[in-house]
Amino acid sequence: MSKLTETKAWEALWAHFRENSHHHMRDLFAQDEQRFERFSLQVGGILLDYSKNRINQDTMDMLVNLARERGMSQRIAAMFNGEKINFTEKRAVLHVALRNRTNSPILVDGENIMPKVNAVLDRMCAFAHSVRTGDWLGYTGQPITDVVSIGIGGSDLGPQMVYEALKPYAHPRMKMHFVSNVDGSQIAETLKEVHPASTLFVIESKTFTTQETLTNAKTAREWFLASAKDEKAIAKHFVAVSTNRQRVVDFGIDPQNMFEFWDWVGGRFSVWSSIGLPIVLALGRDHFYELLNGAHLMDQHFRNAPLEKNMPVLLGLLGIWYMNFYGGGSHVIAPYDQYLHRFPSYIQQLDMESNGKQVNREGERVDHETAPIIWGETGINGQHAYYQLLHQGTHISPIDLICSIDGRHSMPGHHDILLSNVFAQAQAFMQGKTAEEVRAELVAQGLSGDELEQMIPHRVFDGNRPTNTILVSNLDAHNLGALIALYEHKIFVQGTIWGINSFDQWGVELGKQLAKKIHQQLVDGSEVSEHDSSTRNLIEYYRRFTKA
Ligand code: F6P
Repeated sequence: MSKLTETKAWEALWAHFRENSHHHMRDLFAQDEQRFERFSLQVGGILLDYSKNRINQDTMDMLVNLARERGMSQRIAAMFNGEKINFTEKRAVLHVALRNRTNSPILVDGENIMPKVNAVLDRMCAFAHSVRTGDWLGYTGQPITDVVSIGIGGSDLGPQMVYEALKPYAHPRMKMHFVSNVDGSQIAETLKEVHPASTLFVIESKTFTTQETLTNAKTAREWFLASAKDEKAIAKHFVAVSTNRQRVVDFGIDPQNMFEFWDWVGGRFSVWSSIGLPIVLALGRDHFYELLNGAHLMDQHFRNAPLEKNMPVLLGLLGIWYMNFYGGGSHVIAPYDQYLHRFPSYIQQLDMESNGKQVNREGERVDHETAPIIWGETGINGQHAYYQLLHQGTHISPIDLICSIDGRHSMPGHHDILLSNVFAQAQAFMQGKTAEEVRAELVAQGLSGDELEQMIPHRVFDGNRPTNTILVSNLDAHNLGALIALYEHKIFVQGTIWGINSFDQWGVELGKQLAKKIHQQLVDGSEVSEHDSSTRNLIEYYRRFTKA
Protein backbone atom coordinates (compact mmCIF):
# COMPACT_ATOMS: atom_id res chain seq x y z
CA MET A 1 0.00 0.00 0.00
CA SER A 2 1.42 3.38 -0.99
CA LYS A 3 1.95 6.08 1.63
CA LEU A 4 -1.21 8.02 2.42
CA THR A 5 0.43 11.36 1.77
CA GLU A 6 1.57 10.20 -1.66
CA THR A 7 -1.85 9.15 -2.93
CA LYS A 8 -3.51 11.07 -5.75
CA ALA A 9 -6.63 11.65 -3.65
CA TRP A 10 -4.56 13.20 -0.85
CA GLU A 11 -2.93 15.64 -3.24
CA ALA A 12 -6.31 16.52 -4.76
CA LEU A 13 -7.76 17.12 -1.31
CA TRP A 14 -4.91 19.48 -0.41
CA ALA A 15 -5.47 21.51 -3.55
CA HIS A 16 -9.19 21.61 -2.80
CA PHE A 17 -8.52 22.62 0.81
CA ARG A 18 -6.26 25.49 -0.28
CA GLU A 19 -8.95 26.80 -2.60
CA ASN A 20 -11.93 26.37 -0.31
CA SER A 21 -10.89 26.45 3.33
CA HIS A 22 -11.75 30.15 3.70
CA HIS A 23 -15.42 29.58 2.82
CA HIS A 24 -17.88 30.16 5.61
CA MET A 25 -20.65 27.66 6.24
CA ARG A 26 -23.06 30.56 6.60
CA ASP A 27 -22.51 31.35 2.92
CA LEU A 28 -22.63 27.70 1.90
CA PHE A 29 -26.08 27.44 3.50
CA ALA A 30 -27.20 30.67 1.86
CA GLN A 31 -26.14 29.39 -1.55
CA ASP A 32 -27.77 25.97 -1.31
CA GLU A 33 -31.30 25.43 -0.02
CA GLN A 34 -30.82 21.68 -0.38
CA ARG A 35 -27.80 21.45 1.89
CA PHE A 36 -29.57 19.45 4.59
CA GLU A 37 -31.05 17.00 2.07
CA ARG A 38 -27.63 16.66 0.39
CA PHE A 39 -25.65 16.12 3.58
CA SER A 40 -27.86 14.03 5.83
CA LEU A 41 -28.52 10.32 6.03
CA GLN A 42 -30.74 7.97 7.98
CA VAL A 43 -29.97 4.40 9.01
CA GLY A 44 -32.70 2.69 11.04
CA GLY A 45 -33.55 5.01 13.92
CA ILE A 46 -30.45 7.17 13.49
CA LEU A 47 -30.46 10.40 11.53
CA LEU A 48 -27.06 11.97 10.85
CA ASP A 49 -27.08 15.63 9.84
CA TYR A 50 -23.57 16.43 8.64
CA SER A 51 -24.52 19.54 6.70
CA LYS A 52 -22.91 21.82 9.30
CA ASN A 53 -19.43 20.84 8.21
CA ARG A 54 -16.89 22.78 6.16
CA ILE A 55 -17.60 20.80 3.05
CA ASN A 56 -19.23 21.03 -0.33
CA GLN A 57 -20.12 18.24 -2.74
CA ASP A 58 -16.59 18.25 -4.20
CA THR A 59 -15.10 17.77 -0.74
CA MET A 60 -17.24 14.73 -0.11
CA ASP A 61 -16.53 13.28 -3.58
CA MET A 62 -12.80 13.69 -3.02
CA LEU A 63 -12.93 12.18 0.45
CA VAL A 64 -14.83 9.20 -0.91
CA ASN A 65 -12.19 8.89 -3.65
CA LEU A 66 -9.58 8.79 -0.91
CA ALA A 67 -11.50 5.95 0.76
CA ARG A 68 -11.52 4.08 -2.56
CA GLU A 69 -7.83 4.62 -3.12
CA ARG A 70 -7.13 3.27 0.40
CA GLY A 71 -9.03 0.06 -0.43
CA MET A 72 -11.92 0.75 1.98
CA SER A 73 -14.34 -1.81 0.54
CA GLN A 74 -11.69 -4.53 0.52
CA ARG A 75 -10.71 -3.79 4.13
CA ILE A 76 -14.35 -3.90 5.24
CA ALA A 77 -14.76 -7.24 3.48
CA ALA A 78 -11.54 -8.53 5.05
CA MET A 79 -12.85 -7.76 8.54
CA PHE A 80 -16.24 -9.38 7.98
CA ASN A 81 -14.61 -12.41 6.35
CA GLY A 82 -12.49 -13.09 9.41
CA GLU A 83 -9.10 -12.29 7.89
CA LYS A 84 -6.39 -11.75 10.50
CA ILE A 85 -6.31 -7.99 10.06
CA ASN A 86 -4.95 -7.56 13.59
CA PHE A 87 -1.68 -8.89 12.24
CA THR A 88 0.60 -7.86 15.15
CA GLU A 89 -1.40 -10.24 17.34
CA LYS A 90 -2.18 -12.65 14.48
CA ARG A 91 -5.90 -12.33 15.17
CA ALA A 92 -9.12 -11.88 13.26
CA VAL A 93 -11.31 -8.96 14.33
CA LEU A 94 -14.80 -10.32 14.69
CA HIS A 95 -16.88 -8.38 17.17
CA VAL A 96 -19.35 -8.34 14.26
CA ALA A 97 -19.75 -12.12 14.66
CA LEU A 98 -21.08 -11.61 18.19
CA ARG A 99 -24.09 -9.77 16.77
CA ASN A 100 -24.40 -11.70 13.54
CA ARG A 101 -28.10 -12.24 14.09
CA THR A 102 -28.70 -13.88 10.70
CA ASN A 103 -26.28 -16.58 11.81
CA SER A 104 -24.57 -16.82 8.45
CA PRO A 105 -21.36 -18.83 8.88
CA ILE A 106 -18.20 -16.90 9.79
CA LEU A 107 -14.97 -18.85 9.53
CA VAL A 108 -11.85 -18.50 11.66
CA ASP A 109 -9.08 -20.92 10.67
CA GLY A 110 -11.68 -22.92 8.75
CA GLU A 111 -14.07 -23.24 11.73
CA ASN A 112 -17.54 -21.69 11.71
CA ILE A 113 -17.54 -19.74 14.96
CA MET A 114 -21.29 -19.05 15.07
CA PRO A 115 -22.27 -22.22 17.02
CA LYS A 116 -19.95 -21.34 19.89
CA VAL A 117 -21.00 -17.68 19.83
CA ASN A 118 -24.63 -18.77 20.18
CA ALA A 119 -23.87 -21.38 22.84
CA VAL A 120 -22.20 -18.84 25.14
CA LEU A 121 -24.99 -16.34 24.51
CA ASP A 122 -27.56 -18.97 25.50
CA ARG A 123 -25.61 -19.86 28.67
CA MET A 124 -25.28 -16.21 29.66
CA CYS A 125 -28.97 -15.58 29.15
CA ALA A 126 -30.00 -18.73 31.05
CA PHE A 127 -27.74 -17.82 33.96
CA ALA A 128 -28.94 -14.22 34.05
CA HIS A 129 -32.55 -15.40 33.89
CA SER A 130 -32.09 -17.63 36.93
CA VAL A 131 -30.51 -14.74 38.88
CA ARG A 132 -33.22 -12.29 37.83
CA THR A 133 -36.10 -14.63 38.67
CA GLY A 134 -34.61 -15.42 42.06
CA ASP A 135 -34.03 -19.11 41.23
CA TRP A 136 -30.31 -18.61 41.71
CA LEU A 137 -29.78 -18.26 45.44
CA GLY A 138 -26.83 -17.15 47.51
CA TYR A 139 -25.18 -19.34 50.15
CA THR A 140 -27.80 -18.49 52.79
CA GLY A 141 -30.71 -19.05 50.42
CA GLN A 142 -31.30 -15.37 49.63
CA PRO A 143 -31.85 -14.09 46.09
CA ILE A 144 -29.25 -11.82 44.53
CA THR A 145 -29.96 -8.13 44.95
CA ASP A 146 -26.57 -6.63 44.00
CA VAL A 147 -24.17 -7.33 41.18
CA VAL A 148 -20.60 -6.05 41.45
CA SER A 149 -18.86 -6.06 38.09
CA ILE A 150 -15.07 -5.97 38.50
CA GLY A 151 -13.06 -5.16 35.38
CA ILE A 152 -11.21 -2.29 33.73
CA GLY A 153 -10.95 -0.66 30.29
CA GLY A 154 -13.04 -2.56 27.77
CA SER A 155 -14.02 -5.03 30.48
CA ASP A 156 -15.69 -2.25 32.44
CA LEU A 157 -16.59 0.71 30.25
CA GLY A 158 -18.84 -1.22 27.85
CA PRO A 159 -21.13 -2.91 30.39
CA GLN A 160 -21.14 0.19 32.57
CA MET A 161 -21.95 2.59 29.75
CA VAL A 162 -24.73 0.37 28.36
CA TYR A 163 -26.21 -0.26 31.81
CA GLU A 164 -26.28 3.47 32.51
CA ALA A 165 -27.68 4.20 29.04
CA LEU A 166 -30.53 1.72 29.43
CA LYS A 167 -31.18 2.12 33.15
CA PRO A 168 -34.89 2.87 32.69
CA TYR A 169 -35.31 -0.78 31.64
CA ALA A 170 -33.31 -2.28 34.52
CA HIS A 171 -34.65 -4.95 36.88
CA PRO A 172 -36.01 -3.19 39.98
CA ARG A 173 -34.44 -5.67 42.43
CA MET A 174 -31.00 -5.77 40.87
CA LYS A 175 -28.59 -3.00 41.84
CA MET A 176 -25.47 -2.79 39.69
CA HIS A 177 -22.05 -1.63 40.87
CA PHE A 178 -18.90 -1.23 38.79
CA VAL A 179 -15.41 -1.39 40.23
CA SER A 180 -12.39 -0.71 38.04
CA ASN A 181 -9.92 1.35 40.03
CA VAL A 182 -7.14 -0.38 41.96
CA ASP A 183 -7.38 2.57 44.35
CA GLY A 184 -8.91 0.61 47.22
CA SER A 185 -11.34 3.38 47.99
CA GLN A 186 -13.61 2.36 45.12
CA ILE A 187 -14.09 -1.22 46.22
CA ALA A 188 -14.20 -0.14 49.88
CA GLU A 189 -17.09 2.23 49.15
CA THR A 190 -18.86 -0.40 47.03
CA LEU A 191 -18.58 -3.10 49.67
CA LYS A 192 -20.19 -0.77 52.21
CA GLU A 193 -23.35 -0.85 50.09
CA VAL A 194 -23.74 -4.60 49.62
CA HIS A 195 -24.22 -7.77 51.71
CA PRO A 196 -22.19 -10.95 51.13
CA ALA A 197 -25.27 -13.20 51.18
CA SER A 198 -27.04 -11.38 48.34
CA THR A 199 -24.18 -10.14 46.14
CA LEU A 200 -22.92 -11.62 42.91
CA PHE A 201 -19.41 -10.68 41.75
CA VAL A 202 -18.75 -10.82 38.02
CA ILE A 203 -15.00 -10.80 37.41
CA GLU A 204 -14.47 -9.50 33.88
CA SER A 205 -11.07 -9.78 32.24
CA LYS A 206 -10.19 -10.94 28.75
CA THR A 207 -6.69 -12.00 29.81
CA PHE A 208 -7.39 -12.58 33.51
CA THR A 209 -3.93 -11.17 34.16
CA THR A 210 -4.86 -7.53 34.66
CA GLN A 211 -3.40 -6.35 37.96
CA GLU A 212 -6.21 -3.91 38.84
CA THR A 213 -8.96 -6.45 38.23
CA LEU A 214 -7.27 -9.34 39.99
CA THR A 215 -6.41 -7.19 43.00
CA ASN A 216 -10.03 -6.04 43.32
CA ALA A 217 -11.32 -9.58 42.75
CA LYS A 218 -9.02 -10.92 45.50
CA THR A 219 -10.21 -8.23 47.90
CA ALA A 220 -13.84 -9.06 47.08
CA ARG A 221 -13.21 -12.76 47.69
CA GLU A 222 -11.54 -12.12 51.05
CA TRP A 223 -14.38 -9.81 52.07
CA PHE A 224 -16.91 -12.44 51.05
CA LEU A 225 -15.13 -15.32 52.81
CA ALA A 226 -14.85 -13.31 56.00
CA SER A 227 -18.64 -13.74 56.23
CA ALA A 228 -19.31 -16.99 54.39
CA LYS A 229 -16.36 -18.79 55.99
CA ASP A 230 -16.66 -21.57 53.44
CA GLU A 231 -14.83 -21.77 50.11
CA LYS A 232 -17.71 -23.78 48.68
CA ALA A 233 -19.97 -20.72 48.96
CA ILE A 234 -17.81 -18.95 46.34
CA ALA A 235 -19.52 -20.88 43.54
CA LYS A 236 -22.81 -19.11 44.28
CA HIS A 237 -21.30 -15.62 44.37
CA PHE A 238 -18.40 -15.41 41.90
CA VAL A 239 -18.52 -15.86 38.16
CA ALA A 240 -15.82 -15.04 35.63
CA VAL A 241 -15.86 -13.73 32.09
CA SER A 242 -12.63 -14.38 30.22
CA THR A 243 -10.79 -15.96 27.32
CA ASN A 244 -8.32 -17.53 29.75
CA ARG A 245 -9.77 -20.65 31.36
CA GLN A 246 -6.58 -21.69 33.13
CA ARG A 247 -6.17 -18.34 34.87
CA VAL A 248 -9.80 -18.39 35.96
CA VAL A 249 -9.28 -21.83 37.50
CA ASP A 250 -6.01 -20.72 39.12
CA PHE A 251 -7.87 -17.82 40.69
CA GLY A 252 -10.30 -20.26 42.29
CA ILE A 253 -13.42 -19.83 40.19
CA ASP A 254 -15.17 -22.99 39.05
CA PRO A 255 -14.99 -23.20 35.21
CA GLN A 256 -18.72 -24.06 35.35
CA ASN A 257 -19.11 -20.44 36.41
CA MET A 258 -17.01 -19.08 33.58
CA PHE A 259 -18.45 -17.43 30.48
CA GLU A 260 -16.01 -17.61 27.68
CA PHE A 261 -15.11 -15.36 24.78
CA TRP A 262 -12.32 -15.48 22.23
CA ASP A 263 -9.10 -13.79 21.18
CA TRP A 264 -10.74 -12.43 18.01
CA VAL A 265 -12.76 -10.07 20.22
CA GLY A 266 -10.75 -6.96 21.14
CA GLY A 267 -11.22 -5.74 24.73
CA ARG A 268 -12.70 -2.41 23.68
CA PHE A 269 -15.06 -4.20 21.26
CA SER A 270 -16.15 -6.84 23.77
CA VAL A 271 -19.41 -5.41 25.12
CA TRP A 272 -21.29 -7.74 22.73
CA SER A 273 -19.60 -10.83 24.16
CA SER A 274 -20.01 -12.41 27.61
CA ILE A 275 -18.40 -9.20 28.90
CA GLY A 276 -21.98 -7.97 28.47
CA LEU A 277 -23.14 -10.33 31.26
CA PRO A 278 -23.83 -7.46 33.72
CA ILE A 279 -26.07 -5.95 31.04
CA VAL A 280 -28.08 -9.15 30.72
CA LEU A 281 -28.30 -9.41 34.51
CA ALA A 282 -29.63 -5.87 34.78
CA LEU A 283 -31.77 -5.64 31.67
CA GLY A 284 -32.61 -9.19 30.71
CA ARG A 285 -32.18 -11.18 27.54
CA ASP A 286 -34.58 -9.28 25.30
CA HIS A 287 -32.87 -5.92 25.69
CA PHE A 288 -29.47 -7.54 25.12
CA TYR A 289 -30.74 -9.20 21.94
CA GLU A 290 -32.06 -5.83 20.81
CA LEU A 291 -28.64 -4.28 21.46
CA LEU A 292 -27.12 -6.97 19.22
CA ASN A 293 -29.86 -6.53 16.60
CA GLY A 294 -29.25 -2.79 16.42
CA ALA A 295 -25.51 -3.30 15.99
CA HIS A 296 -26.17 -5.92 13.33
CA LEU A 297 -28.32 -3.46 11.41
CA MET A 298 -25.41 -0.98 11.38
CA ASP A 299 -23.02 -3.81 10.39
CA GLN A 300 -25.17 -4.69 7.40
CA HIS A 301 -25.33 -1.05 6.37
CA PHE A 302 -21.55 -0.65 6.76
CA ARG A 303 -20.87 -3.79 4.77
CA ASN A 304 -23.30 -3.15 1.93
CA ALA A 305 -24.01 0.55 1.47
CA PRO A 306 -22.02 2.41 -1.20
CA LEU A 307 -19.20 4.45 0.32
CA GLU A 308 -20.86 7.78 -0.47
CA LYS A 309 -24.03 6.77 1.42
CA ASN A 310 -22.30 4.86 4.19
CA MET A 311 -22.75 6.47 7.60
CA PRO A 312 -19.60 5.17 9.35
CA VAL A 313 -17.55 5.91 6.21
CA LEU A 314 -18.86 9.48 6.02
CA LEU A 315 -18.29 10.15 9.73
CA GLY A 316 -14.78 8.73 9.46
CA LEU A 317 -13.94 10.82 6.40
CA LEU A 318 -15.20 14.02 8.01
CA GLY A 319 -12.90 13.32 10.95
CA ILE A 320 -9.97 12.90 8.55
CA TRP A 321 -10.85 16.21 6.89
CA TYR A 322 -10.43 18.11 10.17
CA MET A 323 -7.61 16.08 11.70
CA ASN A 324 -5.35 16.06 8.66
CA PHE A 325 -6.27 19.17 6.71
CA TYR A 326 -7.55 21.72 9.22
CA GLY A 327 -5.09 20.54 11.87
CA GLY A 328 -7.79 19.88 14.45
CA GLY A 329 -6.42 17.84 17.30
CA SER A 330 -9.49 16.82 19.21
CA HIS A 331 -13.04 15.67 18.80
CA VAL A 332 -15.87 16.29 21.25
CA ILE A 333 -18.57 13.76 22.07
CA ALA A 334 -21.57 15.63 23.45
CA PRO A 335 -24.55 13.46 24.35
CA TYR A 336 -27.64 15.49 25.18
CA ASP A 337 -29.01 12.62 27.19
CA GLN A 338 -28.28 12.08 30.87
CA TYR A 339 -28.40 8.30 30.51
CA LEU A 340 -25.53 8.52 27.99
CA HIS A 341 -23.24 10.20 30.50
CA ARG A 342 -20.60 7.45 30.22
CA PHE A 343 -20.69 7.46 26.42
CA PRO A 344 -17.81 9.97 25.97
CA SER A 345 -15.51 7.84 28.15
CA TYR A 346 -16.51 4.72 26.27
CA ILE A 347 -15.78 6.33 22.88
CA GLN A 348 -12.55 7.73 24.29
CA GLN A 349 -11.15 4.25 24.86
CA LEU A 350 -12.64 2.89 21.65
CA ASP A 351 -11.06 5.59 19.52
CA MET A 352 -7.84 6.50 21.28
CA GLU A 353 -6.75 2.93 22.08
CA SER A 354 -7.56 1.92 18.51
CA ASN A 355 -6.08 4.72 16.45
CA GLY A 356 -3.55 6.29 18.80
CA LYS A 357 -0.74 4.88 16.67
CA GLN A 358 2.44 6.30 15.18
CA VAL A 359 3.42 3.66 12.63
CA ASN A 360 1.56 2.32 9.63
CA ARG A 361 0.95 -1.34 8.85
CA GLU A 362 4.34 -1.49 7.14
CA GLY A 363 5.97 -0.39 10.41
CA GLU A 364 7.02 3.01 9.07
CA ARG A 365 6.44 6.17 11.07
CA VAL A 366 3.47 8.02 9.63
CA ASP A 367 4.01 11.56 8.32
CA HIS A 368 0.53 12.78 9.27
CA GLU A 369 -1.65 12.98 12.36
CA THR A 370 -3.69 9.98 13.49
CA ALA A 371 -6.38 9.77 16.19
CA PRO A 372 -7.84 12.93 17.68
CA ILE A 373 -8.06 13.40 21.42
CA ILE A 374 -11.60 12.39 22.30
CA TRP A 375 -13.24 14.20 25.15
CA GLY A 376 -16.54 15.47 26.40
CA GLU A 377 -19.42 14.85 28.72
CA THR A 378 -23.15 15.49 28.64
CA GLY A 379 -23.57 18.39 26.21
CA ILE A 380 -25.77 20.52 28.41
CA ASN A 381 -23.22 20.46 31.24
CA GLY A 382 -20.44 21.10 28.72
CA GLN A 383 -22.28 24.24 27.59
CA HIS A 384 -21.75 25.71 31.05
CA ALA A 385 -18.14 24.58 31.28
CA TYR A 386 -16.01 24.35 28.13
CA TYR A 387 -18.26 25.46 25.26
CA GLN A 388 -16.77 28.94 25.70
CA LEU A 389 -13.55 27.56 24.24
CA LEU A 390 -15.42 25.71 21.52
CA HIS A 391 -17.20 28.91 20.45
CA GLN A 392 -14.48 31.52 20.84
CA GLY A 393 -11.22 29.68 21.54
CA THR A 394 -8.44 29.16 19.03
CA HIS A 395 -8.91 25.42 18.45
CA ILE A 396 -10.94 23.68 15.77
CA SER A 397 -12.66 20.79 17.44
CA PRO A 398 -15.50 19.03 15.65
CA ILE A 399 -18.40 18.09 17.92
CA ASP A 400 -20.88 15.24 17.75
CA LEU A 401 -24.17 16.37 19.27
CA ILE A 402 -26.12 13.23 20.14
CA CYS A 403 -29.77 13.35 21.20
CA SER A 404 -33.06 11.54 20.88
CA ILE A 405 -36.56 12.53 19.79
CA ASP A 406 -38.20 10.73 22.71
CA GLY A 407 -37.00 11.44 26.22
CA ARG A 408 -37.20 8.50 28.60
CA HIS A 409 -38.92 10.21 31.49
CA SER A 410 -42.25 11.85 32.18
CA MET A 411 -41.00 15.24 33.39
CA PRO A 412 -43.06 17.81 31.47
CA GLY A 413 -41.24 20.49 29.50
CA HIS A 414 -37.68 19.22 29.95
CA HIS A 415 -37.14 17.49 26.64
CA ASP A 416 -38.10 20.46 24.45
CA ILE A 417 -35.70 22.66 26.43
CA LEU A 418 -32.95 20.08 26.03
CA LEU A 419 -33.46 19.66 22.29
CA SER A 420 -33.74 23.40 21.69
CA ASN A 421 -30.25 23.64 23.13
CA VAL A 422 -28.92 20.99 20.73
CA PHE A 423 -30.33 22.69 17.67
CA ALA A 424 -29.32 26.15 18.88
CA GLN A 425 -25.75 25.11 19.64
CA ALA A 426 -25.32 23.49 16.22
CA GLN A 427 -26.66 26.67 14.64
CA ALA A 428 -24.45 28.94 16.74
CA PHE A 429 -21.33 26.90 15.95
CA MET A 430 -22.17 27.10 12.27
CA GLN A 431 -23.26 30.69 11.75
CA GLY A 432 -21.54 32.54 14.58
CA LYS A 433 -22.24 36.23 15.08
CA THR A 434 -20.57 38.95 13.00
CA ALA A 435 -19.27 42.32 14.23
CA GLU A 436 -22.16 44.01 12.41
CA GLU A 437 -24.69 41.83 14.18
CA VAL A 438 -23.04 42.52 17.53
CA ARG A 439 -23.00 46.25 16.81
CA ALA A 440 -26.70 46.31 15.94
CA GLU A 441 -27.54 44.34 19.08
CA LEU A 442 -25.53 46.64 21.36
CA VAL A 443 -26.85 49.81 19.77
CA ALA A 444 -30.37 48.50 20.38
CA GLN A 445 -29.36 48.07 24.02
CA GLY A 446 -28.32 51.73 24.12
CA LEU A 447 -24.52 51.40 23.92
CA SER A 448 -22.50 53.91 21.90
CA GLY A 449 -19.08 55.50 21.48
CA ASP A 450 -15.92 53.94 22.96
CA GLU A 451 -17.87 51.61 25.16
CA LEU A 452 -19.59 50.12 22.13
CA GLU A 453 -16.36 49.80 20.11
CA GLN A 454 -14.50 48.14 23.00
CA MET A 455 -17.22 45.61 23.53
CA ILE A 456 -17.64 44.42 19.93
CA PRO A 457 -14.58 42.11 19.51
CA HIS A 458 -15.38 40.27 22.75
CA ARG A 459 -18.86 39.46 21.55
CA VAL A 460 -18.03 38.29 18.04
CA PHE A 461 -18.41 34.59 17.26
CA ASP A 462 -16.49 33.45 14.18
CA GLY A 463 -18.77 30.46 13.69
CA ASN A 464 -17.77 28.08 10.88
CA ARG A 465 -17.17 25.44 13.58
CA PRO A 466 -18.15 21.94 12.52
CA THR A 467 -20.76 19.76 14.18
CA ASN A 468 -22.52 16.52 13.38
CA THR A 469 -26.01 16.22 14.82
CA ILE A 470 -26.95 12.62 15.52
CA LEU A 471 -30.66 12.51 16.18
CA VAL A 472 -31.90 9.11 17.34
CA SER A 473 -35.60 8.25 17.32
CA ASN A 474 -35.32 6.94 20.86
CA LEU A 475 -32.41 5.60 22.84
CA ASP A 476 -33.63 2.07 23.37
CA ALA A 477 -31.34 -0.96 23.23
CA HIS A 478 -31.73 -1.36 19.47
CA ASN A 479 -30.72 2.19 18.61
CA LEU A 480 -27.96 2.20 21.21
CA GLY A 481 -26.51 -0.94 19.61
CA ALA A 482 -26.56 0.78 16.23
CA LEU A 483 -24.99 3.93 17.66
CA ILE A 484 -22.09 2.06 19.28
CA ALA A 485 -21.49 0.06 16.08
CA LEU A 486 -21.52 3.33 14.12
CA TYR A 487 -18.58 4.60 16.16
CA GLU A 488 -16.75 1.26 16.04
CA HIS A 489 -16.87 1.29 12.26
CA LYS A 490 -16.06 4.99 11.98
CA ILE A 491 -12.84 4.28 13.89
CA PHE A 492 -12.02 1.35 11.59
CA VAL A 493 -12.61 3.60 8.57
CA GLN A 494 -10.14 6.15 9.92
CA GLY A 495 -7.58 3.46 10.75
CA THR A 496 -7.92 2.21 7.17
CA ILE A 497 -7.34 5.68 5.71
CA TRP A 498 -4.32 6.19 7.96
CA GLY A 499 -3.05 2.70 7.09
CA ILE A 500 -2.63 1.67 10.73
CA ASN A 501 -3.63 -1.39 12.75
CA SER A 502 -6.61 -0.22 14.83
CA PHE A 503 -6.84 -3.45 16.79
CA ASP A 504 -3.69 -3.82 18.88
CA GLN A 505 -2.67 -1.67 21.87
CA TRP A 506 1.05 -2.15 22.50
CA GLY A 507 1.20 1.37 23.87
CA VAL A 508 -0.30 0.25 27.18
CA GLU A 509 2.45 -2.29 27.90
CA LEU A 510 5.48 -0.26 28.96
CA GLY A 511 3.77 1.38 31.92
CA LYS A 512 2.46 -2.01 33.07
CA GLN A 513 5.97 -3.58 32.95
CA LEU A 514 7.59 -0.74 34.86
CA ALA A 515 4.80 -0.65 37.47
CA LYS A 516 5.39 -4.34 38.23
CA LYS A 517 9.05 -3.74 39.04
CA ILE A 518 8.40 -0.54 41.01
CA HIS A 519 5.60 -2.19 42.97
CA GLN A 520 8.08 -4.84 44.12
CA GLN A 521 10.51 -2.13 45.19
CA LEU A 522 7.80 -0.25 47.10
CA VAL A 523 6.85 -3.40 48.96
CA ASP A 524 10.26 -4.99 49.71
CA GLY A 525 12.36 -1.85 49.96
CA SER A 526 14.92 -3.20 47.48
CA GLU A 527 17.62 -1.27 45.59
CA VAL A 528 16.35 1.46 43.22
CA SER A 529 19.64 2.77 41.82
CA GLU A 530 18.75 1.51 38.32
CA HIS A 531 16.17 4.31 37.93
CA ASP A 532 16.58 7.87 36.71
CA SER A 533 16.98 10.42 39.50
CA SER A 534 13.36 11.57 39.40
CA THR A 535 11.85 8.10 39.68
CA ARG A 536 14.42 7.04 42.28
CA ASN A 537 13.74 10.05 44.48
CA LEU A 538 9.96 9.69 44.20
CA ILE A 539 10.21 6.04 45.28
CA GLU A 540 12.54 6.88 48.16
CA TYR A 541 10.40 9.82 49.29
CA TYR A 542 7.31 7.62 49.35
CA ARG A 543 9.15 4.82 51.17
CA ARG A 544 10.43 7.22 53.81
CA PHE A 545 6.83 7.89 54.89
CA THR A 546 5.33 4.45 54.41
CA LYS A 547 8.10 2.36 55.98
CA ALA A 548 8.73 4.65 58.96
O1 F6P B 1 -4.47 -2.01 29.33
C1 F6P B 1 -5.37 -1.90 28.30
C2 F6P B 1 -6.26 -3.10 28.22
O2 F6P B 1 -5.57 -4.19 27.74
C3 F6P B 1 -7.49 -2.82 27.37
O3 F6P B 1 -7.27 -3.02 26.03
C4 F6P B 1 -8.48 -3.75 27.96
O4 F6P B 1 -9.79 -3.40 27.62
C5 F6P B 1 -8.18 -3.61 29.43
O5 F6P B 1 -6.78 -3.43 29.49
C6 F6P B 1 -8.60 -4.76 30.30
O6 F6P B 1 -7.98 -5.94 29.92
P1 F6P B 1 -8.53 -7.33 30.41
O7 F6P B 1 -9.90 -7.49 29.91
O8 F6P B 1 -7.59 -8.36 29.84
O9 F6P B 1 -8.50 -7.34 31.91
